[in-house]
Amino acid sequence: MVKSLPILGCIEDEGKTKDQLMNELARLRQRIAELEASETERKRAEEELQHTLESLRRAMGAAIQAMALTVETRDPYTPGHQRRAANLARAIGKEMSLSKEQIEGIHMAGAIHDIGKILLPGEVLNKPGRLTEMEMSLIKTHPQVGYEMFKTIEFPWPVPQIMLQHHERVDGSGYPSGLSGEEILLETRILAVADVVEAMSSHRPYQPALGIDKALEAISRNRGVLYDRNVVDACLRLFTEKGFKFGYRDEESKFTKERVPGSGSQALFKSLAPVSDTSETMGVDGQL
Ligand SMILES: [Fe+2]
Repeated sequence: MVKSLPILGCIEDEGKTKDQLMNELARLRQRIAELEASETERKRAEEELQHTLESLRRAMGAAIQAMALTVETRDPYTPGHQRRAANLARAIGKEMSLSKEQIEGIHMAGAIHDIGKILLPGEVLNKPGRLTEMEMSLIKTHPQVGYEMFKTIEFPWPVPQIMLQHHERVDGSGYPSGLSGEEILLETRILAVADVVEAMSSHRPYQPALGIDKALEAISRNRGVLYDRNVVDACLRLFTEKGFKFGYRDEESKFTKERVPGSGSQALFKSLAPVSDTSETMGVDGQL
């Protein structure tokens, strides 16, 4: 008879022999070993799942980059615009301490936010002058077109919604729905600032590059009006305190250099609309 073995406390029974208790102990040990093995297996399966998810995300990212390039083949005046706007939006998201998921979503949506332009006629997209009202209303369909193209894809991020809202403005003056304030996703409010800063800093068919100072001045002036205050503050901090710079790839710098006024391409700008962030032809924030 074995009495008061602490390890066997739970199975101890006055009526059991030592052999019976040892058998119980062996069964318990086996059960523990089985549980440990299944826990190891669960961890391995979880790691495998994470790995697969990671690969899927990478594949989705690569597919998104490929789609981004297709827009740029139609809209060659803005090489790299989506990529640079997406990079700035991601940096703003980090600066505002958003979650990793949100930052990833902003970056993905930013990379293809103008994809709806793919259905626009090239003559309108590349017209280097003032757009007619009809042409403007055509251009303004691109957020909706992009949304329709992507709305059935199950992204792990709100990519179609961000795309749809990227021309909405905090005061309700944007399009297509005239949403205001927090009706607009935070991710979109971030992309909207990154989009306009990039668009104003770089060359566009309807305006030469205005430079980063003018772009920052425009968002500061419209802080809390067109753009979310906190997003504008984060963007300003990135440029003025944290040394953020747009990374232009070689072919993009060459392209921009070839087209800035004074470098032999003035003809292209002869009929440009007035360079201003309030030009009616460009929309209130100087971009399409
Ligand atoms: Fe756009």
